[in-house]
Amino acid sequence: MVGFLDANVINVAVPAIGRALGAHVSALQWILTSYLATARCSSLITAPPRRVSLHIQEPTPVLCPSQSRRRLAEHAAPTIGGTMTTATMTIPTPREPELLGQAVVLIGGSAGIGLETARRARAEGAEVVLTGRNAERLERAAQDVGARSTAAFDAGDAPALKRFFDELPEPIYHVLVTGPGPTYVPLMEMTGDQVRREVGDHLALGLEVARNAAPKMRSGGTLLLMGGTGGRKISRALGIASAATAALPPFTAALALELAPVRVNLIAAGFVDTPLSATYFSAEGLEARREELRRTLPIGRVVGPEDVAALAVHIMSNTALTGATYDIDGGQQFVF
Ligand SMILES: NC(=O)c1ccc[n+]([C@@H]2O[C@H](COP(=O)([O-])OP(=O)(O)OC[C@H]3O[C@@H](n4cnc5c(N)ncnc54)[C@H](OP(=O)(O)O)[C@@H]3O)[C@@H](O)[C@H]2O)c1
Repeated sequence: MVGFLDANVINVAVPAIGRALGAHVSALQWILTSYLATARCSSLITAPPRRVSLHIQEPTPVLCPSQSRRRLAEHAAPTIGGTMTTATMTIPTPREPELLGQAVVLIGGSAGIGLETARRARAEGAEVVLTGRNAERLERAAQDVGARSTAAFDAGDAPALKRFFDELPEPIYHVLVTGPGPTYVPLMEMTGDQVRREVGDHLALGLEVARNAAPKMRSGGTLLLMGGTGGRKISRALGIASAATAALPPFTAALALELAPVRVNLIAAGFVDTPLSATYFSAEGLEARREELRRTLPIGRVVGPEDVAALAVHIMSNTALTGATYDIDGGQQFVF
């Protein structure tokens, strides 16, 4: 029962009104029927009927929203009164949050990509745990997004990382590892230790997180690592960063095989407008870089941490994705 208005009413009343008005009404009839079907599928109309103006028989079969959207596409640009229209109609499609009740751990969750992913995951019903080194910033971030808990430690400190995961209650659904950024130093200016750090640290961090988190992770959950598209080209300025970048996709795929059925994926970002990016520029230099990106990127705008967060949450919720690298750079790698 839908209320005082129902599909049968539409089937009878709308053509009658239409005939009376001399108008072509099939499009209007279909639109109203679709609206009712959507409303019934999603229980949008729940109030008891306030008045009954026509006898209502058993309702005709209803279309659920996905079917309705398909029908809407098929009926695009209906002819009304002999005039073609390209107007579109938005049908409300309420849905379940994608990460309802799932625990998401953000290693590096107090700023930038990690913090925005926490915010997005919360909006999808997740419980989030944030880590970072600076306890004050971490606390502010936790209040900002309503985090379940926080832990302040350096992710490169293997014993501290192990302690954190040992103390974390099960189950963990997803873990995003952001944390430290690369150092851009010419190769000949680097010491052996620096090279080992730059190439090894990111892989070692992924590995230590995998080792400690995976036993507590739910099948189908994902470990998400961060890489970049900028380092794919070779340049003097990038130094060791290109080699470090190149190691991540095969590392991710190999880890995905070992950790299955836990999934492992890699996000490769270009310039993302975060506090980290700001550290590479002066204030004017940063604005100039943004302007350059707006002018030259195929998407005509700067990629923000919310964009990466949207991708991260999609990878968390899409259980078909593992061992893969997902580029998100607005086309930057093809124009610079
Ligand atoms: N922004 C970009 O354009 C871009 C592009 C490609 C890839 N990435 C990668 O994405 C990751 C995140 O970048 P972002 O731009 O979001 O950086 P961000 O804005 O600087 O945020 C980094 C977060 O990680 C934490 N963190 C940093 N070092 C840490 C450590 N050693 N141990 C624990 N937590 C640490 C920071 O908090 P504390 O400082 O308090 O520890 C902060 O919460 C980095 O790995 C970066 O290389 C960034």
